[in-house]
Amino acid sequence: MNTTTLLRAVRADITTLSVDAIVNAANSSLLGGGGVDGAIHRAAGPDLLHECRLLGGCKTGDAKLTRGYRLPARFIVHTVGPVWRGGEQGELALLVSCYRRSLELARAAGATSIAFPSISTGIYGYPIEQAAPIAVQTVRAALRDDDPIREVVFCCFSAADLGVYARLIAAAA
Ligand code: AR6
Repeated sequence: MNTTTLLRAVRADITTLSVDAIVNAANSSLLGGGGVDGAIHRAAGPDLLHECRLLGGCKTGDAKLTRGYRLPARFIVHTVGPVWRGGEQGELALLVSCYRRSLELARAAGATSIAFPSISTGIYGYPIEQAAPIAVQTVRAALRDDDPIREVVFCCFSAADLGVYARLIAAAA
């Protein structure tokens, strides 16, 4: 069991965080959109779109890595969460895969800190009460003993979301 990586929840604009890698809740084109995806592209600048065009898109549940360009973060992990269709269409497994794949890519790039937005819980409609426990449990389970990733930040955009994540982290600590 991992006891050395710090998990914490903050309320912030993820584009402002000084971590090695931030995760983008993208769509399968990887060519930008609304929500956190739009904010990340605006803050990183046009070179990000240029790199994204070379990636050939991304499947739901998978992730791809780019540089961070104008962001404080060195890397952006672009992952594509599932659209919520009522919960019987494999949404849970796809969301789990987003968190696992994002951690794998960040670790492989040498990141020691990573920040996640609440993937799929905005435009894609995944209920936060169901998505947040999946996020926290999947990250905890995926971290190894002495993982090179020392800090995982769950970056919440609303006070209500922060309350949900903070309770989950405190309960499992
Ligand atoms: N920093 C942190 N979190 C944010 C920010 C921000 N700057 N902006 C929004 N959020 P969403 P999804 C929160 O809709 O549901 C895009 O068009 C937001 O409040 O960004 O996975 C993509 O291109 C919510 O809690 O992502 C896709 O088409 C969380 O980020 C689609 O939206 C995720 O909301 C993906 O939808």
